[in-house]
Amino acid sequence: MPRIVLIPGDGVGPEIMESVIPVLEAVADKHGIPLQMEIHEAGDEVKRRRGVALPEETFQAVRRADATLMVAVGETAREVILPIRQELDLYVNLRPAKSYPVPNAVRGFDVTIVRENTEGLYVRSGWTNGDTAVDLRIITKRGSERICRYGYRYAREMAKDRVYAVHKANVLLGCMLFRDVCSSVAGEEGFEFRDMYVDAAAMRLAMDRPFDVIITTNMFGDILADLAAAYIGGLGMYPSGNIGDDNAVFEPVHGTAPDIAGKGVANPMATILSAAMLFRWLGYREAADDLERAVWRACELGYTTPDVGGRMRTWEVSARVRDLLNSGE
Ligand code: IPM
Ligand code: MG
Repeated sequence: MPRIVLIPGDGVGPEIMESVIPVLEAVADKHGIPLQMEIHEAGDEVKRRRGVALPEETFQAVRRADATLMVAVGETAREVILPIRQELDLYVNLRPAKSYPVPNAVRGFDVTIVRENTEGLYVRSGWTNGDTAVDLRIITKRGSERICRYGYRYAREMAKDRVYAVHKANVLLGCMLFRDVCSSVAGEEGFEFRDMYVDAAAMRLAMDRPFDVIITTNMFGDILADLAAAYIGGLGMYPSGNIGDDNAVFEPVHGTAPDIAGKGVANPMATILSAAMLFRWLGYREAADDLERAVWRACELGYTTPDVGGRMRTWEVSARVRDLLNSGE
């Protein structure tokens, strides 16, 4: 019986989560998945109330769960998602930017960013000395090897062959190590090694997109992912998974969107698509495909929120996705 933890978080998080729970129930029912869901809290609101953004019981629940679906946390994101990624060793940040039929997406855009998720500039180690601040950027052979291995294997599974290692090895020592490790892993996994400097990759992402999969270090992946979001209609359509060897936390790439929080217009699709990734990761491939199909159909029918050209509200979009799941239309 899969046990999943749900973390609504702050801002638009609770309204999105509330609308998405019935969708999760519907897909679980339809596919006979005996899903057990537990809601836990984390984020700014909890910190204000209890002095801690990631309460120990939430952390332990995430650790024990088969998988977690989190919407978004606000200013305390650094205190919530970074420790979860690091302490649970969720070393992959899988970010498939695939366009759905919404008017502000580029048709056919499909680039997956496989972002290293535990090291690089995110080790949270450094110091300030007077007018100087130092952030350490740690790149290890082990960290590079496992993310590259995941990236090439993912590409093989998804039948994608244009895989690029993206780095800045003309300047950074860590990137030289990363590039060399990726090059050997590519060979071992039966791929031609292709690589690109991150600045060039940003331009090519906007121009001719020679890649299906980008494997890169932590901060570069963070930045390129938001750039990729611009081609699929924005962050409201962008799901992700923080994935380790035996645990995973799925979350939309977007944040808490304080400007629209409480207005009921936030786009629930990124969370629904993150749930699809969660089901796929748990081995429920048909449930995942079914969810993605329902989102696709909802987009085609214009059952969408204003950020992607629609007129519906959060709950209506989720309710339509649920109806499409049930009707199998
Ligand atoms: C993301 C976010 C996070 C990151 C922040 C909120 C810590 O931007 O998941 O892309 O930088 O990884
Ligand atoms: Mg980001």
